[in-house]
Amino acid sequence: MLYKRFSIQILLLATFLLVGVQSFAQPNVGEGKQLFKDNCAQCHARNMKSDLTGPALGGMEERWADYPREDLYTWVRNSQKMIADGHPYALELWAKWKPTVMNQFPNLTDDQIESIILYVNDEYNKVDEVVVNGGTAGGATGSEPTNWSFYYVIVGVLALLALILGRLIILLNHQADQKEGTSLGEPKSVLSQVFSPSVIAFIIFILVLLFGHTVVNNAIDLGRQKGYQPQQPIKFSHATHAGEQQIDCQYCHDGARRSKHSVIPATNTCMNCHAAIKVGSTYGTEELTKIYASAGWNPNTGQYFASNVSEDDKNKAYKKWFKDEYVKANADATEKRINSAVDKQLANIQEFMGRPIEWTKIHNLPDHVYFNHAQHVSVGKVECQTCHGPVETMEVLEQHAPLSMGWCVNCHRETEVKFADNPYYNEDFYKAYHTEIKNGSRTAVTVEEIGGLECQKCHY
Ligand code: HEC
Ligand code: HEC
Ligand code: HEC
Ligand code: HEC
Ligand code: HEC
Ligand code: HEC
Repeated sequence: MLYKRFSIQILLLATFLLVGVQSFAQPNVGEGKQLFKDNCAQCHARNMKSDLTGPALGGMEERWADYPREDLYTWVRNSQKMIADGHPYALELWAKWKPTVMNQFPNLTDDQIESIILYVNDEYNKVDEVVVNGGTAGGATGSEPTNWSFYYVIVGVLALLALILGRLIILLNHQADQKEGTSLGEPKSVLSQVFSPSVIAFIIFILVLLFGHTVVNNAIDLGRQKGYQPQQPIKFSHATHAGEQQIDCQYCHDGARRSKHSVIPATNTCMNCHAAIKVGSTYGTEELTKIYASAGWNPNTGQYFASNVSEDDKNKAYKKWFKDEYVKANADATEKRINSAVDKQLANIQEFMGRPIEWTKIHNLPDHVYFNHAQHVSVGKVECQTCHGPVETMEVLEQHAPLSMGWCVNCHRETEVKFADNPYYNEDFYKAYHTEIKNGSRTAVTVEEIGGLECQKCHY
């Protein structure tokens, strides 16, 4: 029986070795392909040669060659930050592709990004080969199986080793038993060895382990966007509006109190103030005129354009506005400088002309989750900042909470419902709790206790 325990220990050791090998795996094309498919393919063409929503990635290593390798990692994790920090090549890219914003991938590790680069190079270099081969697999997929077969070989060798060891142990046991005269005939056959309960239990154990490993990895990589901070089409600052100017959150996000969604304010809300505040202290006319272009408002006259005014005439009006204000602020500017500044500003407002401002949505719960602002803000009396962080200090807004299920559930476990002075809880349904609080057998009710952990409350 000692042998048996020994063999199980060997098997366990082998398993941890295997899992270990997997987690320390080098960057490889197979992993890169999967990562690319899951994260990048919606914007970057798979042939790596043509532009799509984003540029063709083929040859990117050369384009980044003048900078440290880390810059490329930083770009993939948070390109907008790099642009904001003024990285020369990032600025070049942005100048060419704005306002299209690349997603952020803060969770990708260096190795994972290297895997993607391997895959990109592989695809980029092999396409011609495939054409020559008339589309047969050939060298095209060659490198992938090599990578996977590495694991298969290890698994195979280990399985064989386990089988041989197990066999040896059974034979030895049998011999020992025979010596003591306790043997019951033949030793176990190979087949019954393979299908013995302990081996089956072991295989199930491995499967559970691998399954868990994959699920956890996928859950981590799900693209939760904590820290997501895209560049917005207008340099709108919460620090200026909610901080310095102390404008109430709900002045702009008036949906929060009474509906499911907080909603982003329409251009009209901006116009309430910016019909008067026309030139900003930071960007002058550059940013605020985008609001006017969207609203169809003429800052020279302080009136909305009539519906029959042509795009050309609107542009003339904005041009005059930019020029007058620029000359006011830069009395000694040359004609050439004035013209180039005016042309640049005019070009920047074209995408806003007569169209609603396309703010990039930051928070995004999956469709199967039900979340209601009014429930939390009006009924639960939870502060905006508890979930959104110190918004009034953010120049550029970022996602503060992970928006994971664990985040919602933990808060529901810990947060006490404001029971006492809230008419919402006076329904008969909660009578028992009210009575318990009154007679002192209970001090508080958590969200969990009113059903805040029930699946169907949060899931459609
Ligand atoms: C939502 C679309 C989108 C997704 C998804 C996306 N990108 Fe991009 N990517 C862009 C755009 C657009 C640019 C051009 C620069 C810009 O506008 O920010 C870009 C630029 C790049 C560049 C610079 C290319 C060059 O020529 O130097 C790299 C590298 C890059 N992306 C890698 C990735 C990787 C890796 C992924 C997946 C993990 C990915 N991108 C996912 C849109 C996207
Ligand atoms: C003057 C109007 C205004 C005020 C006041 C204001 N916001 Fe905003 N808010 C906006 C605009 C415009 C956007 C979209 C642009 C952006 O993300 O910066 C936005 C975006 C947001 C977002 C992200 C929405 C998304 O896309 O997921 C959150 C969260 C938010 N605001 C919270 C707050 C909070 C909390 C306060 C008060 C501390 C506040 N806001 C005050 C105008 C305002
Ligand atoms: C309640 C009044 C109010 C509302 C509503 C308001 N703003 Fe402002 N905004 C201000 C004030 C005050 C300033 C500071 C002006 C300054 O710095 O000279 C400002 C500054 C700005 C600036 C910076 C201008 C610069 O060059 O410094 C931008 C951009 C801006 N607002 C955009 C918006 C947008 C977009 C909206 C609508 C979503 C909006 N504002 C709604 C009052 C408001
Ligand atoms: C209990 C946490 C919580 C509180 C409190 C909260 N929010 Fe949110 N907020 C969220 C979540 C979660 C989302 C994402 C919703 C989605 O994707 O459907 C969100 C999204 C938003 C958005 C994007 C537009 C939308 O509705 O999807 C804005 C704007 C916003 N919140 C503003 C506010 C403001 C202003 C307050 C305070 C009056 C506030 N929030 C209070 C959790 C909260
Ligand atoms: C900061 C704490 C906090 C976070 C984070 C939070 N909630 Fe809540 N939630 C509350 C409170 C407090 C209430 C109680 C309000 C009430 O009585 O309806 C509540 C109530 C609810 C309810 C109604 C429960 C019922 O029994 O009527 C739902 C549904 C809900 N939350 C969904 C969510 C979802 C989905 C998320 C995550 C995206 C989330 N909540 C995140 C604090 C939170
Ligand atoms: C308080 C709100 C809340 C409750 C209660 C809740 N969920 Fe969720 N659940 C969420 C949110 C938010 C997400 C989205 C997480 C994300 O995108 O990472 C989610 C995601 C999921 C997913 C998808 C997982 C994934 O990775 O996308 C499943 C499955 C799920 N929940 C099952 C359940 C079950 C079963 C229950 C009941 C035992 C439950 N949930 C209760 C908020 C909740």
